[in-house]
Amino acid sequence: MDGPLRFDGRVVLVTGAGGGLGRAYALAFAERGASVVVNDLGGDFRGMGKSSSAADKVVEEIRKKGGKAVANYDSVEAGEKVVKTALDAFGRIDVVVNNAGILRDRSFVRTSDEDWDIVHKVHLRGSFLVTRAAWDHMKKQKFGRIIMTSSASGIYGNFGQANYSAAKLGLLGLSKTLAIEGLKSNIHCNTIAPAAGSRMTQTVMPQDLLDALKPDYVAPLVLWLCHDSCEENGSLFEVGAGWIGKLRWERTLGAIVRQKNQPVTPEAVKANWSKICDFDNATKPQTVQESTASMIEVLHKIDSQEDISMNRTSHTVSDTTSRLDRAIGYKLPQQTFSYTELEAIMYALGVGASIKNPENLKFVYEGSSDFSCLPTFGIIPAQKSMMSGALAEVPGLNINFAKLLHGEQYLELYKPLPRTGQLTSEAVIVDILDKGSGLVILLDVYSYSGKELICFNQFSVFIVGSGGFGGKKTSNKAKVTVPPPKRPPDVVLEDTTSLNQAVLYRLSGDWNPLHIDPSFASLGGFEKPILHGLCSLGFSARHVLQQFGNNDVSRFKAIKARFAKPVYPGQTLSTEMWKEGNRIHFQTKVQETGDIVLSNAYVDLVPTSDDLSAKISSKDGVLRSTLVFEEIGCRIKDVGKELVKKVNAVFEWNITKHGKTAARWTIDLKNGSGELYQGPARGSADTVFTLSDEDFMEVVMGKLNPQKAFFSGKLRVKGNIMLSQKLEMILKDYAKL
Ligand code: NAI
Repeated sequence: MDGPLRFDGRVVLVTGAGGGLGRAYALAFAERGASVVVNDLGGDFRGMGKSSSAADKVVEEIRKKGGKAVANYDSVEAGEKVVKTALDAFGRIDVVVNNAGILRDRSFVRTSDEDWDIVHKVHLRGSFLVTRAAWDHMKKQKFGRIIMTSSASGIYGNFGQANYSAAKLGLLGLSKTLAIEGLKSNIHCNTIAPAAGSRMTQTVMPQDLLDALKPDYVAPLVLWLCHDSCEENGSLFEVGAGWIGKLRWERTLGAIVRQKNQPVTPEAVKANWSKICDFDNATKPQTVQESTASMIEVLHKIDSQEDISMNRTSHTVSDTTSRLDRAIGYKLPQQTFSYTELEAIMYALGVGASIKNPENLKFVYEGSSDFSCLPTFGIIPAQKSMMSGALAEVPGLNINFAKLLHGEQYLELYKPLPRTGQLTSEAVIVDILDKGSGLVILLDVYSYSGKELICFNQFSVFIVGSGGFGGKKTSNKAKVTVPPPKRPPDVVLEDTTSLNQAVLYRLSGDWNPLHIDPSFASLGGFEKPILHGLCSLGFSARHVLQQFGNNDVSRFKAIKARFAKPVYPGQTLSTEMWKEGNRIHFQTKVQETGDIVLSNAYVDLVPTSDDLSAKISSKDGVLRSTLVFEEIGCRIKDVGKELVKKVNAVFEWNITKHGKTAARWTIDLKNGSGELYQGPARGSADTVFTLSDEDFMEVVMGKLNPQKAFFSGKLRVKGNIMLSQKLEMILKDYAKL
């Protein structure tokens, strides 16, 4: 753990430290080892009079506690003199906290020149003069920390404080510029807007609030911002009552109101007013360069007479792309999902499993001897990552989640879902694509039971209106949809959804009111609540499994679908299916309208052992192990990253035929996302296996135990023999033939 933040050897000047907030800062710095200059003019809160007692008292307090402090009684308007006290007493100046302040509250019209000037002189000019006097010393020693004290009145305005608000926001501008100029000399400048009970606030705050808002609650922020280890620079914080928040500017996307060779008219401004003021997808420019880059872009666009979409973001393309790039690779917080047969049955009912089809009994009755979870139930644990709201927290993803649509879904199961269990899901943003009318987030979710990977989901989430930033359009991380064959479907199965279908389906965890609340649905532009896309997907997956997988959940490997159009509860879903080997292409239509609602979809089935023997005999003459390695290669493409984590080794294989090496393969599960290639390992292999093509197949089919093969001399192992235990896992789980 880090130790306490100390200021030993540092010299800190706090202006206006004779009372209120300044006193709290001075005491806190001294307590942590700093030598402190306690500056205070000692006048009243309106800036009248002067006295040395305020500063002296605080110096006395510090010294009593064993701290180091000296007093200075000059006005901050004599900045040089104030800083000189630090240099004379302690030989340097490291930190300046510009805190001195007065009030001359008046309604604007009654504000006199003097009221205006004196407030500006103490706050803005005083901070300027003290800081300038310290600046060169800080620059030379390549260290400086400066605090400017602003106010909520400056940030938001306040009745009767025109002079004060103007000076206080002026300090923010000063601070931002100093942050830029000081950066290369390790001089940082930040601004705070505190709230605390003090003599300054006693006229505006009730006594109990004055007592409750202690200056001591503000001091820790000031100390942190002034510490060597704090990198914060040019920022603004509101602080009080034990709370600290950071502020920044926000800018609407705005609207372009001019066309080439045309004047800008007030009418064009009026016509675009709502867009100019619409904070949806607002940007947060942080520098003048960012701010003006958008203007230059607009000039260029208008000049080159490009078609200017008013929706276009006004910040630069590269800004957005680099911002979004930061979100790629971001891991969402882990989610845990526990379920019993109850949740599995509720899901099955939600996707239309029914005892009208006796074969469905095993999905809805826990007493069935072969009770099973429907494979697509594997989406539900992963969906928690999506639903948790964590996407809204992803740094760099500054998007409007009210415009989120579920675009596509991919699910792959590595083994049938256990009938009850607890799955932990890890989600990561693997890519962000620009689809013009919107952006697509690819969210990969791995769900584990203990350490065992049970399933993988990829959610493609579409954010309407956030596209057009010049990002890439495709990704090699995307599980892509595949159009069905051009012939008429081989089989069509139908199911009519019930009016309560969405009501039932939502109990599995998607509580979006869009699926149940008519007024919410109409806000979204639908005539009534719509069915969940994943519910329709569950219907069609059932159809495929029934038609081509004999309702055997262990035959289900993967599903991919695009959500093309909404379905209303009560409509009939027709799943059109085409068999192409172990891939069943499908698309789902609403029978009443003919609309395709799930498009370019497919289910991959696990081949049966009959399929396997057919495949092997048809390839007679070639090495049968080649098929297995090809399959392993596909699996590595899909889940290589996971395997690399689990296995972390490079395996080399010598496959022999008639006693001679007939093929060499390398399975690299150590580097990057894993890789399979033919030939010896490019680097060094951790383990080298040698065995015949026939024995290899026996091992794969589970007929020959690898340990036994080793002891009987059929399998030779060189290198790290312990790693061979992982061999079984790879072959069993990942070479599903
Ligand atoms: P305070 O009145 O207790 O402290 C201000 C100190 O500055 C006084 O001790 C005063 O003698 C000294 N001072 C005034 N003019 C000076 C000058 N020309 N040279 C040297 N010292 C001078 O008030 P408080 O509340 O502690 O205020 C500290 C700072 O925080 C001020 O800048 C104020 O504007 C700011 N602030 C305070 C808020 C609050 O809730 N207390 C709210 C927002 C801002």
